[in-house]
Amino acid sequence: MFMFNLFPRNEDVLCIDVGFRNIKVVEVSKEKDSRILVKKFALAATPSGAIANGSIRQTAKVADVIKKLISQQKMKAKSAKIIMSGTNIITHIYLINKELNTDLNTAVMRAVNYHLPFVGNDYKVEYKVLETIKKDNKEMCRVFVTAVPYVVIRSYVEVLKQLGLKALSIDIPSNSTAKLFSKVKSGNPVTGIKDQEDHPTFAVIDFGSETTILNVLENWILTFNKVLLSGSSNIDEYLAKNLGVGLEEAERLKITYGLKVPEGVSANECIRTVKSINEYIEGYSKRILACLDEYRKDSNGKEISKIFITGGGSQLHGFTEYLSSKLQLPVHPIYSVDLQGIIMSDGIEKTKLVFMANSLGISI
Ligand SMILES: Nc1ncnc2c1ncn2[C@@H]1O[C@H](COP(=O)(O)OP(=O)(O)OP(=O)(O)O)[C@@H](O)[C@H]1O
Ligand SMILES: [Mg+2]
Repeated sequence: MFMFNLFPRNEDVLCIDVGFRNIKVVEVSKEKDSRILVKKFALAATPSGAIANGSIRQTAKVADVIKKLISQQKMKAKSAKIIMSGTNIITHIYLINKELNTDLNTAVMRAVNYHLPFVGNDYKVEYKVLETIKKDNKEMCRVFVTAVPYVVIRSYVEVLKQLGLKALSIDIPSNSTAKLFSKVKSGNPVTGIKDQEDHPTFAVIDFGSETTILNVLENWILTFNKVLLSGSSNIDEYLAKNLGVGLEEAERLKITYGLKVPEGVSANECIRTVKSINEYIEGYSKRILACLDEYRKDSNGKEISKIFITGGGSQLHGFTEYLSSKLQLPVHPIYSVDLQGIIMSDGIEKTKLVFMANSLGISI
């Protein structure tokens, strides 16, 4: 999707993820054996108000932050890939009757125009056939459709232009996740994904600052995508309101205490913080459960066997265990996955994958 496949061997490439809260940049190169070498990683705060409705509104400010990171880290790449925010991207799965439609392209566009009449000429529409199935004795195609407003795409192209970098691709989060997981090593004891032939069905949840993106991969292929407009910054707002503190202090308390009161601690501040965070996360887990139920309905009852979590918000103390007990599923942080064919340079810790997963995924 949105790929031009112009990644020359051994040439450094910058992969950029402009989140609502943080801009992440990785510099990578492709080794002779096709492995991706992560040479550098840098993160900086996104200028406030720079993103709205999934578009970069203040392209010059965003480009300035990236320029600073490039110069501080002495990054040398001349070309770049960028990932769009998930907010304004529409994804749908359609079942197309193959026997009634000789031309799949026309059939998909007919379905898009019927279900999404506003798309018209304002959106770039792409689709991918997930599988061909037999339903009621008819041959049907399951098609995954993505529609992105051109205005959103143009804002990302503009950032790369202002950086003076050659644009190699503009990608979307769900595609990036699918690519990253295509590099999962088989036989990983932690994740329990034993073999590529295992046909696993699992979810990947990106708990960001303003958004949560849930992707489901069946047999390593993306089959479900949902973007929730709630993220870790909503915990700060909830805490700030309940505790009568400012947003910065609320974020500090969130990061310090998380979901569990440490043994022996009786400080009022800690107990009130933990109680409020638990209240927020209880509602949040219910929204995740509702998404998983929607997936089950869409997929005729297929069951998800495990969940991987990423994004800065996933670092909340006690979150992995909490989600696991609420969803009754194993939950693993993204850095527990053994990524075959990705090498981290010395000094880049694997735990940084919570911030890097999106930018790294588009490098593949
Ligand atoms: N240790 C921690 N515990 C809890 N939350 C944390 C921790 N570290 C960072 N966060 C939260 O992670 C969020 C930032 O994560 P991230 O960089 O993934 O967001 P983003 O990609 O900018 O946002 P979005 O994906 O919504 O555009 C902030 O809300 C921050 O408070
Ligand atoms: Mg993000």
